[in-house]
Amino acid sequence: MNHATPRTGSPRLATPTDLGANAAKDIAAALNAVLADSFALYLKTKNFHWHVSGPHFRDYHLLLDEQADQIFATTDVIAERVRKIGQTTLRSIGDISRHQRLSDNDAAYVEPSDMLAELREDNQRVVAAMREAHDVCDEHNDVATASLLETFIDDAEKRVWFLYEAGRKGDSSGH
Ligand SMILES: [Fe+2]
Repeated sequence: MNHATPRTGSPRLATPTDLGANAAKDIAAALNAVLADSFALYLKTKNFHWHVSGPHFRDYHLLLDEQADQIFATTDVIAERVRKIGQTTLRSIGDISRHQRLSDNDAAYVEPSDMLAELREDNQRVVAAMREAHDVCDEHNDVATASLLETFIDDAEKRVWFLYEAGRKGDSSGH
């Protein structure tokens, strides 16, 4: 975990908390990883919102904008939760790229169906990471962080649902 949190932070940033030092560190590490992935997913969703093309342009363009807004709205809540438990959070785009586990997509052109499939998989990864972070919270009885994550998991599962349905072909084969 030390390699994932190279900064020790100033003692002035050590907000008082009744969570133990190890608990706070473990929870913050899990949250900072989710935060980095959330920023990466936010920008990829915007990227596809900007670059989507084809007959479903309006639907996809609008769907991805809604999803990007929803993802972005989680970032401040997650970062401030890390600060509330006396730990430090991400500081820059470079910091995001060092912590993110999702891959960027800098391709010159991506088929709309591939965009939806890639975002669906990325959102599923974020769901899995949030569930893992929730387990860490449960271990340390951090009910407040767990409660935030429960809402964000539900939101992400809704994004997965919409991406799945929007990505289906027009027949009843399910693909
Ligand atoms: Fe836009």
